[in-house]
Amino acid sequence: MIGHLKKVELHCHLEGAAPPVLAQAQANKYGVDTRDFLRDGAYVWHDFTSFLGAYDAVASLFRTEADYALLTETYLGSLAAAGTVYSEIFVSPDHGEAVGLGADGYIAGISRGIEAARIRTGIECRMVVIGLRHKGPERVEWAARYAANCRNPLVTGFNMAGEERVGRVADYARAFDIARDAGLGITIHAGELCGAFSVRDALDHVRPSRIGHGVRAIEDPALVDRLADEGIVLEVCPGSNVALGVFPDFASHPLRRLHAAGVKVTLNSDDPPFFQTSLQREYAVASEAMGFTAAETDEMTRTAIDAAFVDEATRAALLERL
Ligand code: ADE
Ligand code: ZN
Repeated sequence: MIGHLKKVELHCHLEGAAPPVLAQAQANKYGVDTRDFLRDGAYVWHDFTSFLGAYDAVASLFRTEADYALLTETYLGSLAAAGTVYSEIFVSPDHGEAVGLGADGYIAGISRGIEAARIRTGIECRMVVIGLRHKGPERVEWAARYAANCRNPLVTGFNMAGEERVGRVADYARAFDIARDAGLGITIHAGELCGAFSVRDALDHVRPSRIGHGVRAIEDPALVDRLADEGIVLEVCPGSNVALGVFPDFASHPLRRLHAAGVKVTLNSDDPPFFQTSLQREYAVASEAMGFTAAETDEMTRTAIDAAFVDEATRAALLERL
């Protein structure tokens, strides 16, 4: 049983964490027909492209600061109930713009939800701004400039997600330069839909301290050694990988082999209700399907705090809470 262990999450997309009941309530409020993406209390998709479509459809149900405050507080409340002390949520100002709320209103609503959850449960949270790769380099640079200039102390990192098969990492290097120069922590989705080359591109062009997924580095032993030598932290999401067919099952998932090779790894849920998972389930999978001991998953939690995009006083306080 690992339910009692303290937990940390570094990789979860906010709209991807919306419980289907909340999405349905929002749809009822705005008179939206959900049949294309939400049926019988579950999100409906069949491949990565349709997953991204369903994600955008769910995001379009959150339209005001209050909607985003509710979504944020709801997700952080569920994490706190599972023993989570720290969460980094991925937020995409593009989704705020898409519903006419605007990036400022979007971030303000999420900030309100973070504050409310912290007061109610003690959970600490930071935002990592996402640029959406399939929108192209200029739009990702826009997101980086927004993150660099928004002056919100809860925005502490920058990331790129979306369709990894669009373009090459080098096309997006400027966005990461903007974010790095502003002092933001850097992470990037790579090695999920594309192979080891994508992880190598990320290391060469973006110089991240962490990589989202990165699991297909396992296809290149020299790259696995490089990840270990450079101390790059992988935000691993086993349930997401199996749901999206990156690996056929947990038995063939490379988390165990990456860990054995000395790569720093952490456990994360990515878009939990889309993949029938939760952070608690990811810890349970690591324990029950992959054979990690409680000491080993605790070490992953510690690794996550070491790699968190927080100031040193907050990091020390989080380590105290383990
Ligand atoms: N956006 C939400 N979930 C994602 C994932 N698993 N990969 C890339 N972009 C995403
Ligand atoms: Zn992700």
